[in-house]
Amino acid sequence: MGLNLGCGEGLRPMGSDHWFEPIADHLGTAYLRYSFTKGTLNECDHLEQVLALEPGAVILDVGCGPGRHAHELARRGYTVHGIDISTRFIELAERDAPEGATFERMDARELAATARLQNRFDAVICLCQGAFGLMTAADGGVDDEGRPVDANTTVFAGMAGALRCGGRLALSAFSSHFVVQAIALGDYAAEFDVANGVTHERTEIRSPTGEVDEVDLWTACYTPRELRLLAALHRLTVESISGVDPGDYTDANPGVDHPEFLLVARRM
Ligand SMILES: C[S@@+](CC[C@H](N)C(=O)[O-])C[C@H]1O[C@@H](n2cnc3c(N)ncnc32)[C@H](O)[C@@H]1O
Repeated sequence: MGLNLGCGEGLRPMGSDHWFEPIADHLGTAYLRYSFTKGTLNECDHLEQVLALEPGAVILDVGCGPGRHAHELARRGYTVHGIDISTRFIELAERDAPEGATFERMDARELAATARLQNRFDAVICLCQGAFGLMTAADGGVDDEGRPVDANTTVFAGMAGALRCGGRLALSAFSSHFVVQAIALGDYAAEFDVANGVTHERTEIRSPTGEVDEVDLWTACYTPRELRLLAALHRLTVESISGVDPGDYTDANPGVDHPEFLLVARRM
């Protein structure tokens, strides 16, 4: 049976908190076949360096998916807690989890309100649109006065608050500059909502047994300046913003050919 993901702005499939959950249910282990998931070792090498991780550091992985970074970092001796909104991905992450890696299903929009996860991590990572980025203009709800709330900003606030003083955040964000260029060149079949900075694409996904489904995907995009402003808003000191490709994390200056920016910022 095919998935019905007719979840335009503001509409969600029945029984889920987020439009990505049925996508994760369909993908299951096939998520790890995507090329962008293949660079975990390079990404963890780079994270150890930019986060200046000390032996025994305690790390929160936000939007951890099936746990590829959490598993690798736990294997390197760190204590890692992964949160994700997808029950399916949390089940996969818990399967064969190495010692030191724990997981729970949680909506990252609730992080700031979850006292036990605030003010305690040496590092917070949020990679490949893990929660931050997989949000549309409709995913934040409204505040007490009926004004729309930006869901990504809510997630950012929760991640900043999860750090202990001196702890560091590493956050990758999809690049607005890259997206606009790739669409103009015909390399990326997506629409870009300029007012909200969100791309929308229809794409095919495959289950582990090869069953195909066509789904909607939305991704919020950022510029380095917006990331700097977000960090300042949440009292984080920016240490670096580099231009990265999944699986090729380096200290390169941000350029329009980099699909993502990697923000590293410190709670003072
Ligand atoms: C593209 S995957 C990235 C997973 C992982 N970080 C990686 O690099 O492979 C995005 C993840 O974010 C999760 N996610 C999206 N919105 C979320 C939210 N509000 N709270 C928690 N997790 C969320 C999805 O379920 C999915 O596992």
